[in-house]
Amino acid sequence: MNLKIAVLAGDGIGPEVVLQAMKALKATAVMFDHEFIFEEALVGAAAIEKTGKPLPEQTLNLCLNTDAVLFGAIGDLKYDNDPEAKIRPEQGLFQLRKALGLFVNNKPIKPYDGLLESSPLKKEIIEGTDFLIYRELSGGIYFDEKTINDEGTIATDLCKYTEEQILKIAHLAFQAAQKRRKIVSLIDKANVLETSRLWRKVVTTVSKDYPDVELNYLYVDNAAKQIIAKPKQFDVVLTENLFGDILSDMSSIITGSIGMLASSSIGDTHALFEPVHGTFPQAKGKNIANPFASILSAGLLLEYFGLHKEAKKIHDAVEKAIALKVVTMDLNPESKFGTNEVGDFISNFILDKDDLLYFNNDNVSIGQSTIV
Ligand code: IPM
Ligand code: MN
Repeated sequence: MNLKIAVLAGDGIGPEVVLQAMKALKATAVMFDHEFIFEEALVGAAAIEKTGKPLPEQTLNLCLNTDAVLFGAIGDLKYDNDPEAKIRPEQGLFQLRKALGLFVNNKPIKPYDGLLESSPLKKEIIEGTDFLIYRELSGGIYFDEKTINDEGTIATDLCKYTEEQILKIAHLAFQAAQKRRKIVSLIDKANVLETSRLWRKVVTTVSKDYPDVELNYLYVDNAAKQIIAKPKQFDVVLTENLFGDILSDMSSIITGSIGMLASSSIGDTHALFEPVHGTFPQAKGKNIANPFASILSAGLLLEYFGLHKEAKKIHDAVEKAIALKVVTMDLNPESKFGTNEVGDFISNFILDKDDLLYFNNDNVSIGQSTIV
């Protein structure tokens, strides 16, 4: 398969983790006889610095004319600490989501066996968890009217949903559930919010088209508790934008580290793949950031194009790395492996290189690659 992939590394640890995902994809192309062409472009704070805009036209045009976008992270403390800033890095991501028509964000929540001890949750609780989050990405409180009065003392954010927006994602969630354990859990706040009541009505109607799938409803406050206390009950979690944002980060705890969580954002004609973790500015440039979420996002990219064997190889590589403890410090505080070494291990595994045993905690130190 020929794929043209836009690489938007962004800010913070984005560039270093995306580099490892590209290494994994390049190794996959070699082994499975594909041609993947990568083209890099600016986004976020890095783009504001160079062009004054978080999403320069050149970047947008590239993304509109590629098969997929591989995204790193976006944001910078400089803007976080300045509530007055009119131009913010995150706007680049919103503009991109809008321009590419990305309306659903998916995250698989399934802990790797080797990481069951890394989660602060008890092993018995998380073992066997396997659910998919379907977060609506194009509407809700993120996108509608925002106001602040002249005195700067009263602010509003409008939360709006249309039936059409809900229908689109609901069908996808039910179709996904049909291929899994056939349960959709709609998470809302229908006891308080009008938009949630619209979600319930529309999703209930959609469920009639999928009689083999069970639909249940949870209020978001209860869902937050249930996901942590009894995560195994979930199969497909369907929810609106802001609830999905919060529940996604929370669910990452089940996977052992937010550094493990990959995501795909899909529209009718475009798709973007990104790790769930943010820019992690404290780790930038130190070769300590966990690259697995970015590498696994590359796995979701392969899956999206129907390259299942290739995606499985990436999963197997990550599983092997975890089993051999070739992981970054967030997963093993004593680890001497850095971002680059973990990325080297993954691409070598995909390439079936036989020097994997050289990856051994004793002959590596952070900052030094073992590949010569
Ligand atoms: C995410 C992120 C973004 C969001 C931020 C960076 C604006 O947290 O992709 O989940 O809230 O959507
Ligand atoms: Mn988020």
